[in-house]
Amino acid sequence: MTDSPPLAGRLVLLGVSGSIAAYKSAELARALTAAGADVQPLMTHSAQAFIGPLTLETLTRHRPMTDPLELLPDGRIAHIVAADAADAILVAPATARWLAAMAAGLADDVITATCLASTAPVVVAPAMDGEMFAHPATRANVERLLSYGYRIVAPEVGPLASGHVGLGRLAEPARIMQALEEVLRDRPLRQPDPAQRPPRMSAPPTPDLTGWHVVVTAGGTAEPIDPVRFIGNRSSGRMGVAVAEAALARGARVTLVRGQTSVPLPDGAELVDAPTAAQMRDAVLAALPDADALVMAAAVADFRPRHVADTKIGRAGSLTIELEPTDDILAEAATKARQMSRRPLIVGFAAETGSLERAPEKAARKGVDLLVANDVAAEGSGFGSPTNQVTLIFPGAAAEEWPLLPKRQVADRLLDRLVGLRGPDGASLGR
Ligand code: CTP
Repeated sequence: MTDSPPLAGRLVLLGVSGSIAAYKSAELARALTAAGADVQPLMTHSAQAFIGPLTLETLTRHRPMTDPLELLPDGRIAHIVAADAADAILVAPATARWLAAMAAGLADDVITATCLASTAPVVVAPAMDGEMFAHPATRANVERLLSYGYRIVAPEVGPLASGHVGLGRLAEPARIMQALEEVLRDRPLRQPDPAQRPPRMSAPPTPDLTGWHVVVTAGGTAEPIDPVRFIGNRSSGRMGVAVAEAALARGARVTLVRGQTSVPLPDGAELVDAPTAAQMRDAVLAALPDADALVMAAAVADFRPRHVADTKIGRAGSLTIELEPTDDILAEAATKARQMSRRPLIVGFAAETGSLERAPEKAARKGVDLLVANDVAAEGSGFGSPTNQVTLIFPGAAAEEWPLLPKRQVADRLLDRLVGLRGPDGASLGR
């Protein structure tokens, strides 16, 4: 296993209190999002006099929480949702007043209320005038926060807004980021399900797939035994649906070929129902000539009953069902794609249990441009899970292991790679 970046996919609450250093929280917000974190700002009332909530909203795609009484649009208490889902809380800058409020447990601002309601690790970076930081009251408050297990990133010596030079300047962002990474290291991702996190503003349109037609398969197939029974699998369709949603958000036309799914389907996709492997094969091959990419995220049955009973099979003694192999849709689509002048990218998924060592051979055998392999028996990566830890196999290149991420982030990163593979104007595909 490679080390996962400690901030990728994490929910970090960025608490900003009312110091002139509040403007530096924009830089922190930018660094955190660049490191892959999902950043929810929390602002005291006086912080908003120093930096506009819109600045942090634009940088993080989260509307800053500013009051402990705030409710989310669905009625949940905003700071409690944040407190329960947070991987870490970073308070930067923390004023003398905020340190005192936190030391006393006064839940009268949204940051203090959130810290009180959360078991997430807390990193605090104070900023104030030198005399204020040196005051015994502030010292005692800092000691108190240390006794809670909070990590204090000490301020630095330098010129202060008061005109004095002293110990009170907010620590450099790099030191703050380092402290945050240290408290997060080796901690599991706390709440990967985006629905359980504070809601993000709709993503800014990044229409880099405008003009693309993406065909996605999702869910498991159901191979009939008789009119009421079938052989199926545990796939929910969540990964394929995430790819479809991400592609739609990026401007693509999406055909969603779905087997059995148990998650909401995106608006805007052209839906094709394909409950069996045979129907899915027909739907995929029909859509392929017009596709720029095929993403086979469906869990297709490898075998189906050779004979399907016309009437419900009754309970009488034992039952033997003879199975025959289904067609390998992915391999067939990859072969067809190679014969096309306008060649679509072909992406497969490989659900393995245990090791992924069969995956490179599978990628070669199926002739795909990219195989996304995962261990469906691993924690956080199974069917129906909101997260996935995948390894990308490009034929003839080294495998690329990604950290455990929400499926939507896996989908977006995957689409990034497809944009990269296609090259400018589809040049790499002979267009
Ligand atoms: N797949 C397919 N048609 C099938 C079976 C699988 O197109 N009849 C696709 C899946 O959608 C997936 C990829 O092939 O994108 C790999 O599926 P997987 O079940 O991991 O591989 P198998 O071909 O079934 O190989 P094995 O059973 O040996 O693991």
